[in-house]
Amino acid sequence: IDIKSLRAATDGVITIDPGYKNTGSCVSAITFLDGEKGILRYRGYSIEELAEKADFLEVAYLLIFGELPTTEVLEKFTQDICAQSIVDEDVRKIVDAFPKSAHPMGVISSLTSALTAFNPSSVNVDSEEDMYNAIVKILGKFPVLVAWTMRKKQGLPLDYGDCNLGYVDNTFKMMFKQPNKDYVKNPIVISALNKLLILHADHEQNCSTSTVRIAGSSHAGLFASLSAGISALWGPLHGGANQAVLEMLEAIRLDGGDTKKYMAKAKDKNDPFRLMGFGHRVYKNFDPRAKIIKKAADEVLSDLGIDDPILNIAKALEQEALNDPYFVDRKLYPNVDFYSGIIYRAMGIPVEMFTVMFAMGRLPGWIAQWREMRLGKEPIGRPRQIYVGETLRPFTPITER
Ligand code: ACO
Repeated sequence: IDIKSLRAATDGVITIDPGYKNTGSCVSAITFLDGEKGILRYRGYSIEELAEKADFLEVAYLLIFGELPTTEVLEKFTQDICAQSIVDEDVRKIVDAFPKSAHPMGVISSLTSALTAFNPSSVNVDSEEDMYNAIVKILGKFPVLVAWTMRKKQGLPLDYGDCNLGYVDNTFKMMFKQPNKDYVKNPIVISALNKLLILHADHEQNCSTSTVRIAGSSHAGLFASLSAGISALWGPLHGGANQAVLEMLEAIRLDGGDTKKYMAKAKDKNDPFRLMGFGHRVYKNFDPRAKIIKKAADEVLSDLGIDDPILNIAKALEQEALNDPYFVDRKLYPNVDFYSGIIYRAMGIPVEMFTVMFAMGRLPGWIAQWREMRLGKEPIGRPRQIYVGETLRPFTPITER
């Protein structure tokens, strides 16, 4: 695609497309998404196959560098990440300075941005080598920040893990290790978390990814661009929906489990209530990730011997929506966030940490998109507008207003 001539051909014409519903912002070779058919592929590999067979770091490498790694390449990538899995001791002081009541998404986005101060060489990255170094740094340090964000809230000491355990297992250990107690791996939990992280790893030009690309297009560093993406993810219409879904399901349970009442609220245009975890800008069919996560939720809960009543409430809502003309006409199906919170809760992850887990999964996708944007030498992102405000008017002194 000849972007220069495309740009020249459209020069002088401004399109208005609120929410960018039909506007392509870039060309990309990372993720393929067909919302009508419910297809999602990373670099040509189906999400179903990757979730079943791959390891999170393998998928991270695939997304960022374009090909599945060989054993040697994956080993080097893993070691390079492991070598970066400590953070400056002063970061602890920043974590300590947050009130315990702080929302983890605010904490993790601040910490990610703060890493820039401790790693100034990661800001001006022009060569592929500089980029690689910045990438392994953030992949190494992010799980530490995730764990510390959660532990700070729980009043637990801020420890390091053991990256020889493997990326996902080590993250879980850093989050949950109790003082003076051995950490015992639960393979069911680790395998489910691996799957969830893979399913969240990229989703082309969504709100947070577009934010990362546009922030990075000013040549802000990788960590600052990721921090911007984390802030965008936080909102309940995007990644924050996983927390909102669980709170909604819990509220329905406490209210007696009357799903029909909440279905009616969701359809009532005078009621601001929306069925959280339903609907998607691009999927007008089942979100393929939601299908896999629903199955995983059943398996994980049964393997862990947990009978969570909100799983039944979720299934009842889904069933009612599938047979309700309001949802059918608008093609509103469960999205990735509808069942993920039920699994996170079964793993013992606090509800306010759910979106942080999403951010951890999405990290490789954001990095891949940032790298593609920088290597493609994309121009600075700068949308236009159509001005509808006042025309020129004289200044009125304050005494005359
Ligand atoms: N509950 C009830 N009605 C809904 C819902 C919902 N969850 N989602 C959309 N609708 C309705 C809208 O009211 C609108 O109806 P109308 O045509 O009568 O006005 C129609 O469906 C289209 O909805 P829009 O908001 O225009 O669709 P948009 O593409 O802008 O928004 C979004 C998509 C934000 C995901 C929306 O469906 C929503 O708010 N869902 C709930 C929040 C959520 O689950 N977000 C996570 C998305 S996945 C992710 O980001 C990881």
